[in-house]
Amino acid sequence: MKDKVVLVTGANGGLGTFVTQAFLDAGATVVGTSRKINQSDFNNPQFTALSGEISSLQTARAIVDQVTSRFGRLDVLAHTVGGFAGGQSIAATDDITYQRMLDMNLNSVFHILRATIPALRQTGDGRIIAIGSRAALEPGAGVGAYSASKAAMVSLIRTVATENKDAGLTANVILPGTMDTPTNRAAMPMADRSKWVSPASVAQLVRWLAGAAGKDVNGAVIPVYGSDL
Ligand SMILES: NC(=O)c1ccc[n+]([C@@H]2O[C@H](COP(=O)([O-])OP(=O)(O)OC[C@H]3O[C@@H](n4cnc5c(N)ncnc54)[C@H](OP(=O)(O)O)[C@@H]3O)[C@@H](O)[C@H]2O)c1
Repeated sequence: MKDKVVLVTGANGGLGTFVTQAFLDAGATVVGTSRKINQSDFNNPQFTALSGEISSLQTARAIVDQVTSRFGRLDVLAHTVGGFAGGQSIAATDDITYQRMLDMNLNSVFHILRATIPALRQTGDGRIIAIGSRAALEPGAGVGAYSASKAAMVSLIRTVATENKDAGLTANVILPGTMDTPTNRAAMPMADRSKWVSPASVAQLVRWLAGAAGKDVNGAVIPVYGSDL
């Protein structure tokens, strides 16, 4: 991927760290963005940290403008930004939690899609890979706001796949089960981690979808549930 410019959102997150490293290992130029990202997060000359919010179209466009003005192009969007809230039934879900789930999991992808699609279409071979969740397809009790936000995200990505196939742009969404991240280890110290999904595996799938062999996969909704089927 030596001639590719990749934007990873949430690049310093539990999964985003692995996704960023996977693209760097493949020789890509990687711009990693999040609110608190630092240049020192990745020790690689091909890495550029770009701190910023993607909470509005304006802020998402500002990030993408910096990428295209500095590197002249954008080939891949790997969108990992997202967040979880659980423990409330639908009847008990408060407005703040509901809005936070929509902002983190749905609105963020909507803004970054609108900001990146024009540049991705220009390459004639652009790629979008977004991270949803198993909960998008399998809602469970107490995670209604999270599940709904991820389900709507899947719909957005599939629409983008249909709308942009004329420009050789693919858009796919990966649905991980519970991943083995530092945050999950801290939150669930007694859990059986053997069934958790490896973020490194998910990152390799993201990189594969962005590579030459991934060009025929478009509009896919890909479950990655590990052994917890
Ligand atoms: N962990 C799991 O078990 C699991 C399971 C299924 C699906 N997923 C999904 O997988 C994705 C990654 O999960 P994760 O566990 O790696 O999450 P994480 O560790 O919490 O990382 C989230 C990332 O998003 C960034 N971020 C949050 N809000 C932002 C904003 N407004 N603007 C820009 N950046 C923002 C955070 O960095 P800053 O704080 O620096 O902004 C961080 O880099 C998420 O979409 C999540 O829903 C996770």
